[in-house]
Amino acid sequence: MEIMGNSLSPTPITDNLKTHIIGQRILYYPSVTSTMEVAKWEAQQEAAEGTVIVAEEQTAGKGRIKRIWLSPRGNIALSIILYPSVVHLPYLVMLASLAVVYSIKTITGLESQLKWPNDVLINGKKVGGILIESAIKGGRVDYAIIGIGIDVNLRLADFPELSPVATSLCDELGREVSRIDVIRHLLVELDRLYLVLPFGEPIYKQWRDRLVTLGRKVRVRLGKTMYEGMAESVARDGSLLLRCSDGSLTKIVAGDVTLRDYK
Ligand code: BTN
Repeated sequence: MEIMGNSLSPTPITDNLKTHIIGQRILYYPSVTSTMEVAKWEAQQEAAEGTVIVAEEQTAGKGRIKRIWLSPRGNIALSIILYPSVVHLPYLVMLASLAVVYSIKTITGLESQLKWPNDVLINGKKVGGILIESAIKGGRVDYAIIGIGIDVNLRLADFPELSPVATSLCDELGREVSRIDVIRHLLVELDRLYLVLPFGEPIYKQWRDRLVTLGRKVRVRLGKTMYEGMAESVARDGSLLLRCSDGSLTKIVAGDVTLRDYK
């Protein structure tokens, strides 16, 4: 049993953990630059599939599109090394997002939603994010890394600049949450979904159905270009299909979405 606010360690995470691939090997760091960096190095040394790198805190946590991911103690920051087939690569963000949503629900009872492409929200505020990094060599996946960050026991009152847009499980519930319980459930969900990846269609459908982005007017920034339109659907490769005001359908592979309906 984790004493709240205390450190994580591998044994309570792995003890009697019912997974086949994910979490059979766990590397724990009290402090690290980014679990993505460690995972990349480990993957290059051909680490076992399912190896998890978990850190108490990250000093240079990475978000999407080169953003900084704030990663103080008390939250969840972990990366998982996988070697999927190249056709399954687009599903990794979907399965990771679903695993986060299901774990939050099981452990806390809180409902969370997904914002395309990789945000997990509670009541419209970001509680978690997914980062996928992969390398392809000769048409095959050399490695893929799923990075997951969840604000668990973060007190947003300590970070006033973030409180309009971010939340934590603790702030939503008004009490601390065991990170070990969340991580254990997360690893079980990830393992279950990873094993059914060859039948990717249900994962795609469950992910699509949880996206709060769809059916909304959105602005999407992609580099220096801004797209505006109705988020109509998502394709099986994870890209967003945006119906623009001239009736054309634009496929957006990755971008930064503003959900607020605009005039
Ligand atoms: C995002 O929302 O932009 C993605 C955030 C991903 C953060 C996680 S925390 C664990 C892993 N290590 C990192 O440096 N980033 C990911």
